[in-house]
Amino acid sequence: MIDHDAFRAVLGRFTTGVTVVTAIGPDGQDQGMTVSAFCSLSLTPPLVLICIDHTASMYGSLKLASHFVVNILCEDQEALARRFSGTDPNRFDGVGYTRGQTGLAVLDDVLGFVECRVTTTQEGGDHDVFFGEVEFAGASDGKPLLYYRGGYAQLER
Ligand SMILES: Cc1cc2nc3c(=O)[nH]c(=O)nc-3n(C[C@H](O)[C@H](O)[C@H](O)COP(=O)(O)O)c2cc1C
Repeated sequence: MIDHDAFRAVLGRFTTGVTVVTAIGPDGQDQGMTVSAFCSLSLTPPLVLICIDHTASMYGSLKLASHFVVNILCEDQEALARRFSGTDPNRFDGVGYTRGQTGLAVLDDVLGFVECRVTTTQEGGDHDVFFGEVEFAGASDGKPLLYYRGGYAQLER
């Protein structure tokens, strides 16, 4: 079986965008975490998926949540990616956001966002896949923040 280092070395070469997934916990508090494992899945119906580590503090909340939002970050939002993957428990402190139509946090100035209703979840090893049907969405002009081989990057074109 492939070892962890080899797995990471190969899969880290697959460049992704960077998102912040937001939801509301059972205590009514906003929660968010940085997620690169985000994928569009289906057009009819409009489905996306995210993959969430069982050890993530947000995992339990997401398992109970009816909705989540995927905020697609712009190239100048690396600080948000670091904030929402860091150790500061007050991740929303000083972060601008509005409420989307589902009532969840949509971060200011993101490249795009999708507000999703959780349709189903599926365990995949140490992660769960959360499938969401897109109910509302928005986009703006700009360039994406990228993640490649363990570091942030920007498009040159
Ligand atoms: C660029 C980047 C992408 C990430 N993508 C994912 C992901 O797709 N799924 C996931 O479960 N964690 C992902 N993480 C890790 C989580 O953001 C991080 O473990 C989590 O926010 C830690 O939260 P916790 O300390 O509250 O558990 C990513 C982190 C970074 C920096």
